[in-house]
Amino acid sequence: MPTFTFTLNGEPTTIEAPADLPLLWILRDHLGLTGPKYGCGVGVCKACTSHLDGAAISPCTTPVAQCDGGTVVTIEGLADGDTLHPVQQAWIDEDVAQCGFCQPGQIMAAVALLAENPDPTDADIDALENVCRCGTYVRIRSAIKRAAASL
Ligand code: FES
Ligand code: FES
Repeated sequence: MPTFTFTLNGEPTTIEAPADLPLLWILRDHLGLTGPKYGCGVGVCKACTSHLDGAAISPCTTPVAQCDGGTVVTIEGLADGDTLHPVQQAWIDEDVAQCGFCQPGQIMAAVALLAENPDPTDADIDALENVCRCGTYVRIRSAIKRAAASL
């Protein structure tokens, strides 16, 4: 089986796996990183949202081979030690989460959005595709605006 090497949450990581194995299975089943959630498995719900080279991706539809030589960040790698990322802190300050299932993906999508667009409009935020079954969209919007103001 081929091997693939990438930086995962700041650590060099080498995985032996079929080239087409989705990254999400590597993260959750092989490496125990269960922050990226499995929702649909087909790139629609965005519960698994993580970053590859700084851009938001859906690991459930990203073959591990695509990550070779790249930099992967999951929600587990977002904080700086005990210091939360400003988006994580904004999520707490706005008390966003309900059941919490979608929230790692929501936060990772928000971080990627703010990296591209530091002052997003309501429409920019509403264009995020992450699904929340609990309907936390209004508080997500407030948290992203709060984080934008603090960055
Ligand atoms: S589980 Fe990846 S997009 Fe739904
Ligand atoms: S907080 Fe429950 S699905 Fe979003």
